[in-house]
Amino acid sequence: MEESARIEKGLQALEAWALPAIEGVEELEALEQIRIRVLGRKGELTEILRSLGAFRPDMRREAGQKANALKAKIENALQQRQQVLRAALHDGLAVQDAIDITLPGRPVRQGSLHPLTATLYEIVEIFQRLGFSVAEGPEVELDYYNFEALNIPKDHPARDMQDTFYVTDEVLLRTHTSPVQIRVMEAQPPPVRIVAPGRVYRRDADPTHSPMFHQVEGLLVDHGVSFADLKGTLQAFVDQFFGVGTPLRFRPSFFPFTEPSAEVDIACMMCKGTGCRVCKGSGFLEILGAGMVDPAVFCMVGYDPEITGFAFGMGVERITMLRHGIDDIRLFFENDLRFLQQFPAL
Ligand code: FA5
Repeated sequence: MEESARIEKGLQALEAWALPAIEGVEELEALEQIRIRVLGRKGELTEILRSLGAFRPDMRREAGQKANALKAKIENALQQRQQVLRAALHDGLAVQDAIDITLPGRPVRQGSLHPLTATLYEIVEIFQRLGFSVAEGPEVELDYYNFEALNIPKDHPARDMQDTFYVTDEVLLRTHTSPVQIRVMEAQPPPVRIVAPGRVYRRDADPTHSPMFHQVEGLLVDHGVSFADLKGTLQAFVDQFFGVGTPLRFRPSFFPFTEPSAEVDIACMMCKGTGCRVCKGSGFLEILGAGMVDPAVFCMVGYDPEITGFAFGMGVERITMLRHGIDDIRLFFENDLRFLQQFPAL
């Protein structure tokens, strides 16, 4: 009897401090301490429940019921207090981390096209206005399309390992955009009027030559096309790109896939044709290679060799350098913002 009175007293004392303590606690961590003190492995209520094992069964039941009722009451109080404290913590964090929508926004930095991309788009647009459509071909190309079908014989120096990146004996990185001419003519009968922009690769690296650069190929095939049509088309392009009346000069040249062939120069942008360091005193700068399509090429694609056409290929880096007075091709590929930000309007 004495024992059960002692248990009863213990439970009352526990209830008397634990419930107000739980109500009054302000921190989740402190709440956990109370739980451990009461219900932990060595907690006060746990000890009481454990001590009941030594009681007579009838007394054990009665005291056990009281102890378990208090346990449920305390667990309930702990749970409710925990919910309240968690909600408060959450609200506090929400206030602390709230986004102040009254702050002025950070200005968005405006990007711009890379000068080469801008030039490429502009060249293509000019030719589209002249009635050309856009064609594309693979950068990893077959030897056949890059050389063979373009009438470039096996022993031609351009096929040298020193100039061309070979993947295998028959596969290479295209050295120019001219193979697109062959792919287009194989796929469609004349008339043809296309430009083919894209990347090309050569084993070349110095201030004016890059191992990867861009070309825009042009091809026009129809009946009765003459060299005058080539000159007229290129003059129309130069007038729109460099300014009306920009002098154009054709110099005899050689390409295995055109006959006759020419290299085309424009008056030097720096000195307006009077001669300077950039144009090495000549007053002119080369911008592209061109010519009348060689009948041997027409034969390779199964066209009637009596058909006529012209083709040209221009270096996009070269034209961009001329236009903006850039003297080192490597600046295009360094991604230095101090350089790129000078072309904001492009
Ligand atoms: C050709 O690539 C011919 N396929 C062009 C052509 C097409 C002629 C159709 C006739 C008919 P060429 O090797 O000259 O030609 O290159 C053309 C242009 O590419 C050059 O005028 C030059 O502007 C540019 N170029 C050549 N090599 C490099 C290089 N390593 N880096 C940057 N630009 C280059």
